[in-house]
Amino acid sequence: LGLLRRVEGYLGEFLSQKSRTKEGLTDASFSRSNSSGSIATDEGLFEQPESLASSKVVMEKILWRRSLQLRDKQQAWKESPEGRKMLELRRSLPAYKEKDALLTAISRNQVVIISGETGCGKTTQIPQFILESEIEAVRGAVCSIICTQPRRISAMSVSERVASERGEKLGESVGYKVRLEGMKGRDTRLLFCTTGILLRRLLVDRNLKGVTHVIVDEIHERGMNEDFLLIVLKDLLPRRPELRLILMSATLDSELFSSYFGRAQIIHVPMWKMSKQAPRKRKSQIASVVEDALKAADFNGYGPQTQESLACWNPDCIGFNLIEYLLCNICESERPGAILVFMTGWDDINSLKEKLYANPLLGDSSRVLLLACHGSMASSEQRLIFDEPEDGVRKIVLATNIAETSITINDVVFVLDCGKAKETSYDALNNTPCLLPSWISKVSAQQRRGRAGRVQPGECYHLYPRCVYDAFAEYQLPEILRTPLQSLCLQIKSLNLGSISEFLSRALQSPELLAVQNAIEYLKIIGALDENENLTVLGRYLTMLPVEPKLGKMLLVGAIFNCLDPVLTIVSGLSVRDPFLTPFDKKDLAEAAKSQFSRDYSDHLALVRAYEGWKVAERDFAGYDYCWKNFLSAQSMKAIDSLRKEFFSLLRDTDLVDANTTTHNAWSYDEHLIRAVICYGLYPGICSVVHNEKSFLLKTMEDGQVLLYSNSVNAREPKIPYPWLVFNEKIKVNSVFLRDSTAVSDSVLLLFGGSFSKGAIDGHLKMLGGYLEFFMKPAIAEMYQCLKGELDELIQTK
Ligand code: CDP
Ligand code: MG
Repeated sequence: LGLLRRVEGYLGEFLSQKSRTKEGLTDASFSRSNSSGSIATDEGLFEQPESLASSKVVMEKILWRRSLQLRDKQQAWKESPEGRKMLELRRSLPAYKEKDALLTAISRNQVVIISGETGCGKTTQIPQFILESEIEAVRGAVCSIICTQPRRISAMSVSERVASERGEKLGESVGYKVRLEGMKGRDTRLLFCTTGILLRRLLVDRNLKGVTHVIVDEIHERGMNEDFLLIVLKDLLPRRPELRLILMSATLDSELFSSYFGRAQIIHVPMWKMSKQAPRKRKSQIASVVEDALKAADFNGYGPQTQESLACWNPDCIGFNLIEYLLCNICESERPGAILVFMTGWDDINSLKEKLYANPLLGDSSRVLLLACHGSMASSEQRLIFDEPEDGVRKIVLATNIAETSITINDVVFVLDCGKAKETSYDALNNTPCLLPSWISKVSAQQRRGRAGRVQPGECYHLYPRCVYDAFAEYQLPEILRTPLQSLCLQIKSLNLGSISEFLSRALQSPELLAVQNAIEYLKIIGALDENENLTVLGRYLTMLPVEPKLGKMLLVGAIFNCLDPVLTIVSGLSVRDPFLTPFDKKDLAEAAKSQFSRDYSDHLALVRAYEGWKVAERDFAGYDYCWKNFLSAQSMKAIDSLRKEFFSLLRDTDLVDANTTTHNAWSYDEHLIRAVICYGLYPGICSVVHNEKSFLLKTMEDGQVLLYSNSVNAREPKIPYPWLVFNEKIKVNSVFLRDSTAVSDSVLLLFGGSFSKGAIDGHLKMLGGYLEFFMKPAIAEMYQCLKGELDELIQTK
């Protein structure tokens, strides 16, 4: 109890003191930059020297001169031989035909919605048209165009493309910014960024001062961030009448967006009458190829063997043999051209890739170039996808649905579509997120088909029967309706947008009330919101960290207790793709490899050990070997490495870590303390360990019995000598599964489960009391009663 009191007092005071200094600092720095007359507030990029800025006239002259320079430079490029060639190329895109109509519409309307099939040139051309016309109108130095992308990879690849179309290097007039990476300079006027980056900017710059155009791309995907951004921008428009908002969609359902913005103008970019596109193979021909493949492929028990089982076709476990057969078939007997295979997810892609490597034809690198394409790919790997292979080599790209709209690979002739994608959904009633490979929508299926034959005739193999296609939904459910809303609610609060439920009721499609209530309740339990739904000090800190609230809590308390180093690894590890790989056919070996890192019933601590081993190996340039031996993803390890640095520097900005520290304040490496910190973050994700004679069962209050994923180190333990597990994720697949977990003791749960903030302690104890009663732990219940009495007193007196 003494410890708890100290912690509570310390943390509360510490945080509010820090936040006071922080506020002071921020105010000061804002007023400083205002008085120096910065012109566009892009993080002070365009700040002028103080002496010059004091005179507005001088300022305007400078801008005018810079605008003239930009115009001359642009003109020179257009007249150069390379520039002309590039222009020729751009003119061949459908979007170019609509250039004037688009620019006129944008100048006359505050909101314009542009729809056009994937590949018609929306992303690369439209932001560029605006930039060019601004530069031509000698407004180059004062325009500031932001174009958001739902994914990092597209922000990066598109900006590079646009820069090269302008004959520039990235970071001159065109740049990009994504989490962890960015490339922009003093003269960057067109910035491609992820939607998250723009939302973070809105945190410090509500009115987007200095921004002239906001382009929100891929709105048809209905990502949560994009839907959220649209509400914020809709509120912003009346305050910034000169700001232009352009929404771009690859599907034709623009009516919904148009009516949301008061019947905004819609412009459709028609595709060419495809003279290029020769008649596709007839459907029945393709169907018979697939049928032959079904007969010929030996499914090893993985696939549908009969017509009946076709109806419940499950591409998670088929597929591989069928796909292998079809790929061989295409490679041997079809004309040249790349093959794009749509798979369910990253793990699928990895397993399939391994299988294909073992094939004598497909694994032969002199004949086949086998590549993967998914969201968390390194930039170097990414570039290979766009390159044309040498003559006689067939390029095969195994992709997730990322290649549906946001990435265009030009030389694709054949598409294989498994018909599924990993989709998260959210069961508000049971407050449980679900992640299931589910059927794609009809729109997605069409998009996938459209990826074939972009520059020459193409073919698409749908690896599912017609009856399945007919049952597809028209559109996918927007993400805001199928994800837990905690982070979103926190963001709403941090942007000062008023009541959460009122705000969300203004969304394009509002989430269920119960889902909103669950999220608010969660934020109260973890102490980020007080009873009146206002941000607490802790909540304010959490908004500064671009991670889920629970991970943010771990970082903050890790910093305060001086055990940040392992916590940085854990949080980074949970923010990237699981570094522990479990290849399809080597599951056992992989799980055994993971267990070597475990000594203490914790997946999180196993991750810390794995990372530390990698760090040592990496110093001897043996990082890859180490990963290979231990079934670890070298890519995830590198991502963890850079995320650790980013989180550390963010924490330094929050002043919770001494600004002069370069080591990650790690004097304390006490395993029990780290366990406690993990518990502090993951609460209320707890389940009780119930032992029986031979093994143990896991139960949570809401779900009853739950199971561990087989790659959890705890799943391999015969017994767990702790009464509780804390977990960071539970997902309903068939049963409810817990992902990574750490075992904790009664006292850790009692002291570190919940929040230390005054208002929250009471709620926490109530909830914890509920848990204890539910699981009938008499000894600890007694301890709890006693503690509660003392705490009531404590709360009264404070
Ligand atoms: O956004 P939308 O799907 O309408 O098309 P886009 O991404 O602007 O792509 C238009 C064309 O630019 C594509 O057909 C590609 O030929 C080309 N492009 C490219 O060559 N390299 C890139 N990184 C992006 C686009
Ligand atoms: Mg696009």
